[in-house]
Amino acid sequence: MDEAPDSDPLKVLLAWHREALALGAREPDAMTLATATRDGRPSARVVLFKGLADGQLQFVTNFGSRKGLEIAENPQVALTFFWPELARQVRVEGVAERASDADSDAYFRSRPRESQIGAWASSQSQAIASRAEL
Ligand SMILES: Cc1cc2nc3c(=O)[nH]c(=O)nc-3n(C[C@H](O)[C@H](O)[C@H](O)COP(=O)(O)O)c2cc1C
Repeated sequence: MDEAPDSDPLKVLLAWHREALALGAREPDAMTLATATRDGRPSARVVLFKGLADGQLQFVTNFGSRKGLEIAENPQVALTFFWPELARQVRVEGVAERASDADSDAYFRSRPRESQIGAWASSQSQAIASRAEL
């Protein structure tokens, strides 16, 4: 039988995430992020875990995306990680906070040029009329 997990849930999350990485799990960083409109209509999608900073789970997205707009009007969110290879999930509920402009800009600058152009050229969550427009 497994040992009892640490009583600090963030330590458990990091330990299981490390195990998933070590095992060569297919998408160890993938987590499902649920947001909701102001009146509580939920939506969910997968985003990538970018690590912990000051005890906060980080992910990156476009502020103008559906999730970005929903978080701006209702910061209550939920996340789940699922690692099939470990037969484990982690559930997280909390309040999302926007990173500082300086941190957002630093992340954008750290991205490869193609990714910067992609983010700049396409509005996340918006349909593009045609390939020519893109
Ligand atoms: C494996 C995987 C990883 C993804 N990672 C991200 C991510 O880190 N950030 C992000 O904004 N979208 C990510 N996406 C795309 C989102 O799931 C979603 O389609 C997109 O962000 C638009 O969501 P929204 O319209 O609900 O805002 C990922 C999708 C997949 C399948």
